[in-house]
Amino acid sequence: MTLQSKTAEIQEKARRHLSPVMTRVTEMVVERAKGARFWTSDGEEYIDFVSGVAVNAIGHAHEAMVEAIQKQAEAFIHFGLNYGYYETAANLAEKLAEITPGSLDTVFFSNSGGEAIDGALKLAKAVTGRPGIIAFEGSFHGRTMGATAITASSSKYRKFYEPILGEVYHAPYPYPGQLRGVKEGEITEYCLGQIQKIFDLRIDPSRVAAIIIEPVMGEGGYFPAPPEFIQELRRLCDSHGILLVFDEVQTGFGRTGKMFAAEHSGVTPDILVLAKALSGGMPLGAIVAARELHEKWPAGGHGSTFGGNPISCAAALANIKILQEENLIERSSKLGERIVTRLRSSLKGLDAVNEVRGIGLMIGIEFESSIAASAVPHIKQKALENKLLIMNCGVYGQTIRLMLPLNIEEEVLEKGLSILEKAIKETLSKEE
Ligand SMILES: Cc1ncc(COP(=O)(O)O)c(C=O)c1O
Repeated sequence: MTLQSKTAEIQEKARRHLSPVMTRVTEMVVERAKGARFWTSDGEEYIDFVSGVAVNAIGHAHEAMVEAIQKQAEAFIHFGLNYGYYETAANLAEKLAEITPGSLDTVFFSNSGGEAIDGALKLAKAVTGRPGIIAFEGSFHGRTMGATAITASSSKYRKFYEPILGEVYHAPYPYPGQLRGVKEGEITEYCLGQIQKIFDLRIDPSRVAAIIIEPVMGEGGYFPAPPEFIQELRRLCDSHGILLVFDEVQTGFGRTGKMFAAEHSGVTPDILVLAKALSGGMPLGAIVAARELHEKWPAGGHGSTFGGNPISCAAALANIKILQEENLIERSSKLGERIVTRLRSSLKGLDAVNEVRGIGLMIGIEFESSIAASAVPHIKQKALENKLLIMNCGVYGQTIRLMLPLNIEEEVLEKGLSILEKAIKETLSKEE
């Protein structure tokens, strides 16, 4: 069988039997991946600036992670945390207690980000006895029903599923795109005022269980919330007995140049939701909160068959060890600054580039909305033709986001950035 016919056979099977509901960005057939590169079944090599959507923080198939997975698979693959304890889950819970902010010391493990978000909403409702949830416009929290209900980055995610979950209210996220030219302090004041308006007109704060926020908005466009806004949110929650929940599914584990984005504002949430880079690719999510809060969650009120799978926990432990031992959090911060400086300079003078912004290795290149719908897909296609995989975000798809592995090799980075810059310049020269 030739490489081409093997590829065609896999594609045909996949097209016939995999549900088309999922957006598929390319039809490549991936065979192998290592570091920041992957190879397709027809033998082509690509650079990966997507990292499984911010999952592979230490790159694909890091030796130490592969070894940890193999070792645990040989010992046992599944047992069920409801039938006993095991070392990898206990060690990981202890490790998360150590590295997460403040006194967050107790963990419930799930299988994914969305599932952990649903669990966090259940925890908040059960513990406070209140029904209301406040989330933010532009936010993405996942595809399970609870997560879909609080997501507001596109109506397509909610269409046909309404009514989803009652008592969810959305406030504007404090991002400058909405109020361009307005000072950060004014944005904070405006957005806090909008929450107060929800309290005055829609739901009394004594009926709100939780306010949930991505400290840096991910899918909605790569916008960091001003630290001052997060600090004010903490005060607001404290004054009304509302639980503050951080969705750090995308921002956790060094992506923003700190272990957790919470550290940028110095605010500890009541509940921290983690997934994606937690385990570098093995399915795992976590709901981290103080022991006191978890103890108020009625026993048996939540659970999971696979949550805290021993192999996923082993992978997560290896992942965190590598992030720490190889100083990758610091690298994320420094490398991020370097890349933003380079892109600001190389893309200078292109009117259609609105902004290059970044916090650690969460980097966004935002395009003028009038041309984004045609330019962004073209840039992605051009990059792919030159063997670079990139992805976009933003509620109108206007931002190219870079999610490089934190340990990307200099040579691969250089090559990938050059392909990206060329794709942007070529596309914009046609658009203008
Ligand atoms: C901020 C955020 N929360 C939650 C999720 C959902 O995670 P999962 O796809 O693992 O359910 C995502 C996924 O992109 C995310 O970016």
